[in-house]
Amino acid sequence: MKGIILHGGRGTRLGPLTHTGPKQLIPVANKPISHYVLEDLRDSGVTDIAIVVGDIYPEKVKNYYGDGNRFDVKIKYVYQEQPKGIAHAIGKCREFVGEGEPFVVYLGDNLLKGGIKKFVKSFKESDLEGMILLCKVKNPERFGVAKFDKKGNLVQLIEKPKKPPSGYALTGIYFFRPKIFEMIEQLKPSWRGELEITEAIQLLLDQRRPVGHKFVEEWWKDTGTYEDILDANRLVLEELKPEVKGKVEDKRSIRGKVHVEGGAQVKRGAKIQGPAVIGRNSVVGENARIGPYTSVGDKVTIKRGEIENSIIMEHCLIDVREKIRNSIVGAYSEITSVGVGKPRGRTFIVGEKSHLML
Ligand code: DAU
Repeated sequence: MKGIILHGGRGTRLGPLTHTGPKQLIPVANKPISHYVLEDLRDSGVTDIAIVVGDIYPEKVKNYYGDGNRFDVKIKYVYQEQPKGIAHAIGKCREFVGEGEPFVVYLGDNLLKGGIKKFVKSFKESDLEGMILLCKVKNPERFGVAKFDKKGNLVQLIEKPKKPPSGYALTGIYFFRPKIFEMIEQLKPSWRGELEITEAIQLLLDQRRPVGHKFVEEWWKDTGTYEDILDANRLVLEELKPEVKGKVEDKRSIRGKVHVEGGAQVKRGAKIQGPAVIGRNSVVGENARIGPYTSVGDKVTIKRGEIENSIIMEHCLIDVREKIRNSIVGAYSEITSVGVGKPRGRTFIVGEKSHLML
């Protein structure tokens, strides 16, 4: 079975983070979101992979994943010049998929606890033309939604319905056989100007071709907004195995599940409350308080300040009197305090190379 990871799209809801790179490379627990996708495919035995890159910094994706060797997979890149929709992106992979082979499409901004291994197996063994994974959500209007008849048969898929016919959202993980390419060819742009994969699957359903569906029982996360990214960070950190590879001057500094990467230093007096991760060669100073639910990237210096439920990307400097919470700070940024007076809690979503003086 082959795999396709979508890495295109504009990620407009995630600006300024997406002004300097694609959203799928935003790190949660210090790894790009799409890295978890790639690992899930690989661990499910899918090692022949096409990554569809779009017009937002495609070279950053290529630099990170290369030919896939480092991850024990084989990667080919497919260009999608404009974000004309998920179905359009999949259509570009027809040659890569070839004749007769089943394949799985995984949106590069989706995370699924428990992974897809069992679904890969069941699809391979089936003669289905398509199979979707559904997840019960509180806000189905944000997604593609499944409609069932009284017997529980899947009858319709509707993209972002105002009145959702069920609480079951389509996750961004789809299984197909090459018949889907014929359906994609028949599509016209939707109200949002895109070729919708939901409509291509609907064509399979309308032609009474076999389409299966499975329900995912553990958490699934589409990371379209800041809140989603912080949620994903929390969910992944909760799964983290505690491990100290770097230097912790005083063991009492660490409480709960904390991962300290090699070359990192945690100074005496610092406090880290897990779940949290401290990246390679980062320094947590004596006046720093970190966590819970905080990811500190590689080569970050936290001289002073409290950081909670946040993502601080690589090469940042934080030296503040205030508390930073629910924040995402882009790589190479500096946040320092110059003011006097009573410190307050702060929230930031700032892109790469920002400078903030509080
Ligand atoms: O996450 C699940 C949802 O994904 C489904 O429930 C919806 O049915 C499906 O349409 C999709 O909805 P979104 O509105 O979240 O799609 P978005 O535009 O965010 O794109 C999803 C991923 O596909 C994202 O990683 C970017 C990539 N993409 C998107 C477009 C439009 C491409 O690679 N090329 C594209 O042209």
